[in-house]
Amino acid sequence: MFTGHNSQFWDKRYEESDYVYGTEANQFLTEQQHRLESGMKTLVVGDGEGRNGVWLASQGLEVLSIDLSPVGLKKAEALATQRKVKIQTQCADLTSWNWPKATYDLVVAIYVHFAPEVRQRMHRSMLEALKPGGLIILEAFNLEQLQYQIKYDSGGPKIPAMLYRPEMLQQDFAGGKILELTETITDLHEGQYHHGKASVIRLVLQQDL
Ligand SMILES: C[S@@+](CC[C@H](N)C(=O)[O-])C[C@H]1O[C@@H](n2cnc3c(N)ncnc32)[C@H](O)[C@@H]1O
Repeated sequence: MFTGHNSQFWDKRYEESDYVYGTEANQFLTEQQHRLESGMKTLVVGDGEGRNGVWLASQGLEVLSIDLSPVGLKKAEALATQRKVKIQTQCADLTSWNWPKATYDLVVAIYVHFAPEVRQRMHRSMLEALKPGGLIILEAFNLEQLQYQIKYDSGGPKIPAMLYRPEMLQQDFAGGKILELTETITDLHEGQYHHGKASVIRLVLQQDL
């Protein structure tokens, strides 16, 4: 089964000359700007070509972008240079990464879909990586996206078990305070792979104070 935890797959995708998910940050993330504060220690998981990490750095946050793909992270660094901001990058597989505890003010996960056998552990690790009061901002495709893939080819994994549902995220992140959990239909303009009408799930969660 394709799980997406494979650097060859992502390297090949990112070898295409353009930024395949665009260079602008995810819209839901930018809508959360009011929650951000300069200097926040921020972990951006699966940051790919860096559009989200670079935007967060441009807001004054201290960013570590992690991804499986060295090709993606090189483009992330180039984007940061172009935008005159600094990000730290680390090439690592999050499923075997030595996750820190109580270290980050913010963890951002935009369209990072984990296979069912590791998903809950990854989400728990994100929660535990937060300092008290720290935030998680997550957007992913939900189960309904299977219909939108057929109709609009708008992106995301084609395996139902890798698409997310609200109950799943509630369970995975149990213990954190849900500030927002919504499913919505959106119109994606995120490069060539996330384009058109899509069904997504959005979460903002706060670690206990
Ligand atoms: C659909 S892309 C989204 C990239 C970026 N978040 C964005 O929104 O532009 C998913 C990213 O997650 C990364 N990824 C998936 N599984 C991973 C893992 N186990 N460890 C690190 N990165 C992973 C992939 O390399 C890829 O860059």
